Amino acid sequence: MRKKLVAGNWKMHGSLAENAALLDAIKPALQGIEAAVCVPFPYLAQTQAALAGSSIAWGAQNLSEQAKGAFTGEVSAAMLIEFGCRYVIVGHSERRSLYGESDELVAKKYMAAQTAGLTPILCVGELLAEREAGVTEAVVARQLDAVIAAAGVASLARAVVAYEPVWAIGTGKTATPEQAQAVHAFIRSKIASLDAKVAEGLLIQYGGSVKASNAAELFVQPDIDGGLIGGASLVAGEFVAICQAAAK
Ligand code: PGA
Repeated sequence: MRKKLVAGNWKMHGSLAENAALLDAIKPALQGIEAAVCVPFPYLAQTQAALAGSSIAWGAQNLSEQAKGAFTGEVSAAMLIEFGCRYVIVGHSERRSLYGESDELVAKKYMAAQTAGLTPILCVGELLAEREAGVTEAVVARQLDAVIAAAGVASLARAVVAYEPVWAIGTGKTATPEQAQAVHAFIRSKIASLDAKVAEGLLIQYGGSVKASNAAELFVQPDIDGGLIGGASLVAGEFVAICQAAAK
């Protein structure tokens, strides 16, 4: 049985005061439950101090594909390691669509993360128009193939994949458990065709308007191994309930 992992994606939200309240609330409530929060860069030190010694890991939402050098405004994997990060989100749809990150760039970031010892949470997912055009699987396959071509299928043993249909992110429109399960099963079988063992052990999270009220029905699906949670990860009670649903 695979364990499940819920990770919060705070996006560009928070303040020192808000974070302190949120971290203080989730830490005792999630004692013994493995979970993670991916926070904005400036809040990594605060998050590290607040969560050290707890069962909650932390990480970032982006990183540079470069290791070091004259790359103004960028943050390297080694810097994230210095702040105790375990995870980093790569290829979130907002990075792909708003900041023009290509499949190839995402693959480079994924490799930079793994080289430094971070676990990338690789986001894949289709736009609404792509789903309506019936190319969901082709899009997800293309996004995965870029990473597999660059880093090899074995690298997925040190990664988490998050399936996030773009039309479900922040819209309140969740994929039905059946819609999500179908794509998760497709991802697992695609990887199994290359390496059955890696596929069996791979954590595939679902993301897109997960809430306390719909988490259980998603997590009960055989190929849904937890979630990547945006909006609801900013509300302590919601996030704790989602993590508890995954731990059942
Ligand atoms: P949401 O975001 O839960 O607010 O839909 C999920 C994500 O973008 O990771």
